[in-house]
Amino acid sequence: MEPWQSHGMLGGRSPRVAHDDGKEKMNFELTDTQKILQQTVREFAAAELAPGAIERDETKTWPAEAVKLLGQMGILGIMTPQEWGGAGMDTVSYAIAVEEIAKADASTAVVVSVNNSLVCGLLDKFGSQAQKEQYLEPLATGVKLGAFSLSEPHAGSDASNLKCRARRDGDLYRITGIKNWVSNGKHSDVVMLMAVTDPDAGHSGISCFIVDKGLDGFTVGKLEDKLGIRASDTTELYFDEVPVPVANRVGAEGDGFKIAMTVLDGGRIGIAAQAVGIAQAALDRSVQYAAQRQQFGKPIGDFQAIQFKLADMATDTQAARLLNWHAACLKDAGKIYGPAAAMAKLKASETAMAAATQCVQIHGGYGYMRETGVERLMRDAKITQIYEGTSEVQRVVIARSLMQKG
Ligand code: CAA
Repeated sequence: MEPWQSHGMLGGRSPRVAHDDGKEKMNFELTDTQKILQQTVREFAAAELAPGAIERDETKTWPAEAVKLLGQMGILGIMTPQEWGGAGMDTVSYAIAVEEIAKADASTAVVVSVNNSLVCGLLDKFGSQAQKEQYLEPLATGVKLGAFSLSEPHAGSDASNLKCRARRDGDLYRITGIKNWVSNGKHSDVVMLMAVTDPDAGHSGISCFIVDKGLDGFTVGKLEDKLGIRASDTTELYFDEVPVPVANRVGAEGDGFKIAMTVLDGGRIGIAAQAVGIAQAALDRSVQYAAQRQQFGKPIGDFQAIQFKLADMATDTQAARLLNWHAACLKDAGKIYGPAAAMAKLKASETAMAAATQCVQIHGGYGYMRETGVERLMRDAKITQIYEGTSEVQRVVIARSLMQKG
């Protein structure tokens, strides 16, 4: 049992309103259990993830051992209720864990984020009792790994414009089509798949299915050769009349798009946390280097040009983190959190890209060399502005919520 499990992490909610001298105060302190979690994951990431991160990135090597250990620690099902084998913790804890992992290795962070939000989160919220019994526990404990598959070659941001078809055939659906950019595509055992059951019904004609690997007609494409997060696996998936039992449809026919949108609201908190981790790593590396690198007879950190960069990086990183914890708190409180998660993801991913770019700049020629590992931060940061909704899509979500209120 991990320390946070023995400390009853389930109850950990923070930031929270505390009562003091009869006055209500906002409290930005993490709970004790969240601090223990943060420290534990930080130590794990430093010991198990950081050492091989550069090599795994270069060789596109999946972090097999780390993913296995994270499953045993409860981190792959951190928000899943304990009755289904998860750690039963809150969304702030999830953000803390993903940030710590991303600081060391953003590739592993996306594995954790997808399995938590888009797979376990989907099954926990929308799965039937039988689906939870069969799939949620192994996925939350790391016995199995999940993927989430919405995008298609012609349908990225325009996510309801799907062609992958699920045709009813007695007790089965026969699924045919192509999916792409699937994170965990190769190493997952189970895929949460969105496919069209009624081509004439637009987004209301999309349904969600749990699809096991190994079914006839289901093949996995080659590993994509990516700019960043190269140790994570991203593939196409091909379906040729794949027989999926009706019992594996999640929700009713036509619910798929709203299920996908709902879980992506939560997923964006995970990706924001990944981005905050990258930004924090860029800041930490920059501060360290600025103190040590001498030019013109003194450390470059003595120059205001460098100091101002560090100050901006620190300010934006903390702003992104707090936006994300706010979105996480809204989610935990059962309030509407989609626009807040979109703001957090937008701010965090833009911050990660800017901070990583400045980190390379501060490192100068050394930053441009692969062996220092800071250019990896810049390459990894880029995807956070693209997946689980581009920065432009996040602005659409935010602006629409403003116009609805107005
Ligand atoms: N929660 C619940 N329902 C929602 C919702 C949400 N967040 N957002 C929209 N809906 C509902 C709407 O209410 C509407 O329902 P009604 O018809 O009953 O009113 C329906 O869904 C359609 O909504 P829109 O008209 O707003 O849909 P749209 O076609 O205009 O698209 C969009 C809106 C925000 C652009 C959406 O398509 C989107 O988020 N696109 C980006 C897709 C994305 O994030 N892809 C990520 C792929 S997965 C991934 O990246 C994982 C990984 O690798 C790490």
